[in-house]
Amino acid sequence: MQTYLVGGAVRDRLLGYPIYDRDWVVVGASAEEMIDRGYKPVGADFPVFIHPDSGEEYALARTERKTGHGYGGFVYYASPDVTLEQDLLRRDLTINAMAEAPDGSLTDPYGGQQDLQKRILRHVSPAFAEDPLRVLRVARFAARYAALGFRVADETLALMRKLSTAGELSYLSAERVWQEFERALGEPSPGVFIDVLQRCGALEILFSEFAALQRNPAWPALATGLAELPKTQERFAVLTCAALLIENIAADDIRPRIEALCLRLKAPRSYRDQALLVSSQQAGMLQLPQADGEARLAVANGLDLLRRPERMPSLARCFDNLAAWLNVDGPPALERLQALHRALTETTPAQLMQQGFKGKALGDELKRRQQAACARLTF
Ligand code: CTP
Repeated sequence: MQTYLVGGAVRDRLLGYPIYDRDWVVVGASAEEMIDRGYKPVGADFPVFIHPDSGEEYALARTERKTGHGYGGFVYYASPDVTLEQDLLRRDLTINAMAEAPDGSLTDPYGGQQDLQKRILRHVSPAFAEDPLRVLRVARFAARYAALGFRVADETLALMRKLSTAGELSYLSAERVWQEFERALGEPSPGVFIDVLQRCGALEILFSEFAALQRNPAWPALATGLAELPKTQERFAVLTCAALLIENIAADDIRPRIEALCLRLKAPRSYRDQALLVSSQQAGMLQLPQADGEARLAVANGLDLLRRPERMPSLARCFDNLAAWLNVDGPPALERLQALHRALTETTPAQLMQQGFKGKALGDELKRRQQAACARLTF
């Protein structure tokens, strides 16, 4: 049997990128031989095995044929007579369809090296259409390599558009869509992910909430700003807030809109919470200098600053990012949040108890003093 390094590890080595995980393909072996050699099968009926020492994935060379919609309907054919070229043919992009032998020699039957040089994301064959998730994968690779000058080949974009209009994307599970979206948000040019999806008609189908924003003349500036945020949760929060701003969504509708979006996308709670906080308090943060004590206290409480002060730097990055996009000048949001936090902590319940306050009177007095402290702040 022969073993080759395949896929992303070969691509990223040629690009000079760091390699995080390595996938291997095994030619000329059967499942029984793999098990005899100590490899552990990952599932009962899939020809993928885990190496007993390295923990890396070894897949038997296989061909695949689609029998239904979405991801479920696959039959594969793995046997010692499947060649390396046949296995590479079923893969998504030419740059992902290269294999490296232990002696370092490269098998590249579909022009992967040339496409790497030409900076082109090109599908290998019509088999691309067998997994509609590849529409998202191509958009994600475009978001990762945009700064290197990569673009999607016209014929690949046309095929992606065909998959979108044929309704294939609706068969993808929310989990798989979220996984690609979250990874795309973490890429160096997350806005390119949205752009590529728009160009192939997938944005309206999978992320219709961002379609009006993407069409807006202010989108390129937002996309550039997004890339400057260090965390994917922050990028998601700013993207969501900007989408609501572009559509002039009323304050009361912000929460239900974000909850519905996050439920549909199956976004984790941390993403939903940050999007809710940023979107619901963004206007209040901008208006702080003119606001009275009551409104300032409402922002501080809306952001739960007293209980969760550790979130201030991340929230501040989102507010600053949005303010820059909206061309609003002002002191850094972190300074404002810290000032609000200080105003909230100036008086403690213990101090008021010592002064004889209890029950509702204590709550009322605390609020009164916090409001007064907020009102005294100058921004
Ligand atoms: N692959 C594919 N179609 C998919 C998923 C994967 O053709 N829907 C193939 C590609 O050849 C890919 C390889 O399987 O290179 C490994 O897939 P994966 O580990 O998901 O991606 P990588 O290409 O390694 O990229 P990443 O850096 O994002 O992990």
